[in-house]
Amino acid sequence: MNILVTGGAGFIGSHTLIELYAAGHTAVVIDNLSNSNPVALKRVAEIIDVPEIPFYQVDIRDRVGLEKVFAEHHFDACIHFAGLKAVGESVEKPWEYYENNIGGTLVLVDVMRKHGCKNIIFSSSATIYGDPAEIPITENCPKGQCTNPYGWTKSMLEQVLIDIQKADPEWNVVLLRYFNPVGAHPSGRIGENPNGIPNNLMPYITQVAVGKRPELGVFGNDYPTPDGTGVRDYIHVVDLARGHVAALKAIERKCGIAIYNLGTGQGYSVLDVVKTFEKVNGIKIPYSIKPRRAGDIATCYSNPAKAERELGWKAQYGLEEMCRDSWNWQRNNPNGY
Ligand code: NAD
Ligand code: WQD
Repeated sequence: MNILVTGGAGFIGSHTLIELYAAGHTAVVIDNLSNSNPVALKRVAEIIDVPEIPFYQVDIRDRVGLEKVFAEHHFDACIHFAGLKAVGESVEKPWEYYENNIGGTLVLVDVMRKHGCKNIIFSSSATIYGDPAEIPITENCPKGQCTNPYGWTKSMLEQVLIDIQKADPEWNVVLLRYFNPVGAHPSGRIGENPNGIPNNLMPYITQVAVGKRPELGVFGNDYPTPDGTGVRDYIHVVDLARGHVAALKAIERKCGIAIYNLGTGQGYSVLDVVKTFEKVNGIKIPYSIKPRRAGDIATCYSNPAKAERELGWKAQYGLEEMCRDSWNWQRNNPNGY
């Protein structure tokens, strides 16, 4: 298939391009580069040994720009990664988050349908479960109260896409709810490249390891978890990328609406991650216990059985590979791209 990949220069998008090509698909990327670097696309092309990945620096809110891309290419489906994703920033700038994520998706979907492309795979998030009503979380777990505007954009966009599909059954909508993506391509050539102080655990740990930050703050050790620190379902970004290729199968069988959790099904605490990182990479990560972070929950991990049953997809990598590859990327690219 020929796939439009929005946000394809970003962390998950760039890894997904590699897996798409490996599975025999082709892709065209649009990205406004607001949180990414075009060098990522050059490196993807090197890894998969193609001259270049077709790329347009276009914002998904730019209808004219999108029309131009659709006039030049036929797309079988869109994998829609483009969006703003910083939880804390979304609390400070809710309008910007709703306008970019929701406004952008509405324009994208409108241009898609006008050009007869009614297949979309959407980057959703475990955050839509709020404080989950069940653990491990299945796709039947009710959606919950999000604690920030970013989370609401994902929750609302799920509903928007479901309603569009209900009104026009020619649409196939796959909602992929990612748990905690970490790791990097094993080549160490592409990886996560956060601006400023990382919000997420793994990039913070790698920045401590590389000497950019003195120590990790562990946000709370009094949660009702085995060691008191928060438990999450970390998933290697290469596994996550392959989940998108597998999700194309749902589109091929004309799924209508299909929803999948993409996680490993295994929960690890903050201290599990620190200890595994230290063991695998032979580097000490100094840390100190800090107060809980606003909006955090104690435990969040998936039941990923549905994706295995229906898509034949299952995460292959464990926490050791996630820690190894995160560090390999950071070590080789101390200042990112
Ligand atoms: P990322 O920031 O690395 O990638 C997103 C890309 O979208 C960036 O390259 C950015 O420049 C681009 N973009 C943003 N707004 C755009 C716009 N208006 N027009 C065109 N391009 C735009 O983030 P990521 O970690 O690769 O996440 C990809 C998607 O997955 C996002 O939608 C994110 O919300 C979602 N997601 C991420 C995580 C995570 O922890 N990384 C978890 C769950 C869901
Ligand atoms: C993981 C654990 C922290 C940093 C976020 C978004 C979610 C999704 C994935 C996009 C928690 C602890 C963290 C640090 C720490 N993104 N931690 N010190 O919060 O599970 O999920 O990213 O959709 O929407 O909310 O991930 O990596 O920030 O935190 O102790 O410096 O690590 O408290 O227990 P989170 P995270």
